[in-house]
Amino acid sequence: MEQWRKYGAVVTEAAHFLPERIVTNADVSELVDTTDEWIRERTGIEERRFLDQDKPTSYMAIQVARSLLEKSNIDPLTIDLVIVATVTPDMVFPATACIVQAAVGAKNAWAYDLSAACSGFVYALVTASQFIHTGAHRRVMVIGADKMSSILDMNDRNTCVLFGDGAGGVILDRSEDCSTGLLDFLHRADGSDIDSLNVLGGGSLNPASHESVDQGLHFVRQDGRSVFKFAVRKMAEVSADLLSRNELSGEDLKLFIPHQANLRIIDAAAERLKLPPEKVLVNIDRYANTTAATIPIALSQACDEKRLQAGDLVLMTGVGAGLTWGSALYRWGGDYD
Ligand code: ACO
Repeated sequence: MEQWRKYGAVVTEAAHFLPERIVTNADVSELVDTTDEWIRERTGIEERRFLDQDKPTSYMAIQVARSLLEKSNIDPLTIDLVIVATVTPDMVFPATACIVQAAVGAKNAWAYDLSAACSGFVYALVTASQFIHTGAHRRVMVIGADKMSSILDMNDRNTCVLFGDGAGGVILDRSEDCSTGLLDFLHRADGSDIDSLNVLGGGSLNPASHESVDQGLHFVRQDGRSVFKFAVRKMAEVSADLLSRNELSGEDLKLFIPHQANLRIIDAAAERLKLPPEKVLVNIDRYANTTAATIPIALSQACDEKRLQAGDLVLMTGVGAGLTWGSALYRWGGDYD
């Protein structure tokens, strides 16, 4: 695969932000007909974080961006591009990435949002890496951020128990060593099934109106059962396919970082890859599904806990609305402290 890479694209810093407010399953069960036991057993979720109502997604993304800059001590003027993966942008336009770019003074960067729901971060990481692989850019900031509480119908037990708010991100830098950083990826989409998971209102199909709001079109709707089946199949399949085409198996991985939608989806993928629990990063119990943020939050936690050493292989896999899915195979570089 090396022929498409002139340079390696390596993560040199990672950071995350979670709102302070904890919403437990008991709190949610006061709003809808559900129980702590049902949510734990069917999803693995115990609590989630909700951002204050008056703060937008960019608030969390900016915390991450500032933290990335502080931790790495880099000059914001050296950032060439800012990508924010989100399905809950502050507004239809301009992009949330532009708000982040301005807030941190990344004056030499261009900036845009990427919309791929729960696959958003792996899509964005791979997209950002291409600019570095080709030599077009030296440094890119990639953030996954979602304020899911802003699009949840807190009267719908099929959805409101599943999601939380959060943000995470990385600094990607150019490396002369193509054998570290992003090694390979396998991304896919199937737009023939947009009905199983969506927010139908607020776009050009159903512009916001009294009727659209009365019908709740601004909320997430899903056919949980079909999304579940799809996610179980695709998360395991794309992860196994990417490993096998690189002549690797689960044994070669140091860490598997799956999108956190449901513990049963994660367990099925881990079983297929024959991964023991210590190689699988799980935080759905505390943060629920933060959509584009689950993978970078988990990656940042792995860094904080010093679970990755130079040379370690990491597999990051997302599945989400679109439908979209994808997996990124990554070799950890030595630069992160
Ligand atoms: N509390 C209690 N009962 C509930 C709840 C709840 N919060 N939600 C649904 N139920 C009921 C259903 O109404 C259904 O009742 P019925 O049989 O009388 O119709 C029953 O529980 C079983 O429903 P199932 O859908 O079969 O339950 P399942 O075990 O599949 O769990 C769940 C439902 C958790 C939504 C699961 O399907 C799931 O996780 N799907 C994936 C959805 C998802 O994560 N989407 C988010 C983004 S996509 C992604 O990230 C991959």
